[in-house]
Amino acid sequence: MTDDPAAPILMFDSGVGGLSVLSALRTILPQAPVIYVADNAGLPYGQKTEAEIAARVSGLLGRMTERLRPRLVCIACNTASTIALAAVRDVLEVPIVGTVPAIKPAAALTRTGVIGLLGTEATIRQGYVDRLEAQFAKGKILVRHGAPELVSAAESYLRGESVDRGSIDRAVAALRAMPDGDRIDTVVLACTHFPLIVDHLSAAFGPSVRFVDGAEGIARRIAHLTEGQRFERRDPDLALFTRNDPTLSELFPTLRASGIGCFSVF
Ligand code: DGL
Repeated sequence: MTDDPAAPILMFDSGVGGLSVLSALRTILPQAPVIYVADNAGLPYGQKTEAEIAARVSGLLGRMTERLRPRLVCIACNTASTIALAAVRDVLEVPIVGTVPAIKPAAALTRTGVIGLLGTEATIRQGYVDRLEAQFAKGKILVRHGAPELVSAAESYLRGESVDRGSIDRAVAALRAMPDGDRIDTVVLACTHFPLIVDHLSAAFGPSVRFVDGAEGIARRIAHLTEGQRFERRDPDLALFTRNDPTLSELFPTLRASGIGCFSVF
């Protein structure tokens, strides 16, 4: 347990998706110093193989925890968590909180018994998701769709661009067209990018569909694991990127609004 009140929580994603988790964390731990890491050189994870993601995430988090000495690491990415959480926990000493599809709360909410799951293509094919389905959604139907276009839509939206309506409509239509898809009343946002565009998704699905994501549960888990620790946020938080892309500055206004005021490349 750390006794340095300025020791950060490291929040990791391939891109801006982790900001949906950061926002929930700010609500319950406003004083927690955070280093936000976006592996933009590896984005999108959802189109990579399991081996590529596991190697990349373990390697990066290994180097980052050594250099940045966080008190806790949050893998704010469903793709990385469902593939590499166990491997990362095996090699790092620091507590790790992962992000996995919120199937359990969705199963408690659904009235029709049909749950949609929107994630990346890599996430929806994971055994981890099969196990969550078997454990928490017995007797329900889980309809899965991989929507990489929504990752790009969220990235553009947070850069101040407008969301491509076609990408939203295609994801909604794909879920609806699957067997039992017309009876979906609850959608699990199983990619941390998707809560960032939930208003657009909600407008396209219509008022009968509710959305569930893991952000609040993750924030509560972090608060629980750091209970009793002192937090002191002396300066604006830092965001680290893995590639120096000339368009990165387009994200700075959104990051500043999330309490991040320093930007650097790792
Ligand atoms: N935000 C990530 C997730 O929760 C993945 C986005 C991507 O890199 O494809 O799965």
